[in-house]
Amino acid sequence: AAHLLGIEHLHPLEITTILDLADTYVALNRSSAKHSDVLRGMTQINMFFENSTRTQASFELAGKRLGADVMNMSMASSSVKKGETLIDTALTLNAMHPDLLVVRHGSSGAVDLLAQKVNCAVLNAGDGRHEHPTQALLDALTIRRAKGRLHRLTVAICGDIAHSRVARSNLILLGKMENRVRLIGPPTLMPAGVAEFGCEVFDNMRAGLEGADVVMMLRLQKERMDGGFIPSEREYFHRYGLDSEKLAYAKDDAIVMHPGPMNRGVEIDGAIADDINRSVIQEQVEMGVAVRMAAMDLLARNLRARRLEEAANV
Ligand code: CP
Repeated sequence: AAHLLGIEHLHPLEITTILDLADTYVALNRSSAKHSDVLRGMTQINMFFENSTRTQASFELAGKRLGADVMNMSMASSSVKKGETLIDTALTLNAMHPDLLVVRHGSSGAVDLLAQKVNCAVLNAGDGRHEHPTQALLDALTIRRAKGRLHRLTVAICGDIAHSRVARSNLILLGKMENRVRLIGPPTLMPAGVAEFGCEVFDNMRAGLEGADVVMMLRLQKERMDGGFIPSEREYFHRYGLDSEKLAYAKDDAIVMHPGPMNRGVEIDGAIADDINRSVIQEQVEMGVAVRMAAMDLLARNLRARRLEEAANV
């Protein structure tokens, strides 16, 4: 593929290829070498129009470990603040000949639109409520390494499903890999028509967590609630927050995941998040660097091949 815009465009074999390559980058990152030169001579620009800690830092580190020249655009001090559109900003950067453009934007579909206007590889680092493909891939790698497989598992995704691009990308990926997905959350935070994705929907943690292999918690995304109903944090924690009592409904060896940023005491008890026997939250962060290295490596190979073909046809 020319871009990584969403899990919806990936075939299960492509998912497995990315994860297999990412496994090799986990080993590289754990070695004293840490570096490769597969992106040497390439320029990577990171454009984050929304806040990020994990995604931005790991894309930057991934590019640097692969030998790319990496530039982080500071969107807060860019000419976007003077009214320049996303597309004009992208065309301006495109004229500087980047090879990889990593984009996070608050509007669903914005990254797909941008990819049509530039002639480099675009990676979606999260667009509105739509997709966060590298998050779903790093979650998949974390699950595969912890459980030894990525099929026929029962995965419970819990919390604010309606506003979550992480839930959407995970739901699509886990479905493609033939897992059983359960969505648990208050009806006010469950999108209409979600059952069409072939998942089961619950508004009760006990029923939804029964027999789960993986428990994935999500943050309440208040910034996307547009003045709609925001539950009280106390009440929310009582009904949907993951504590040891609720986790006991899942399988004894169920792993606990959270994409971050985490709100302790709202969607998850801090003691569960820190329990190294159950929580794989820090592993998710580690897998994030490896998965982004793998995704950029594969896109760069494709880009080089296309450019060679274009040069041969001139
Ligand atoms: N999981 C995730 O996307 O985190 P950041 O918003 O910190 O990048």
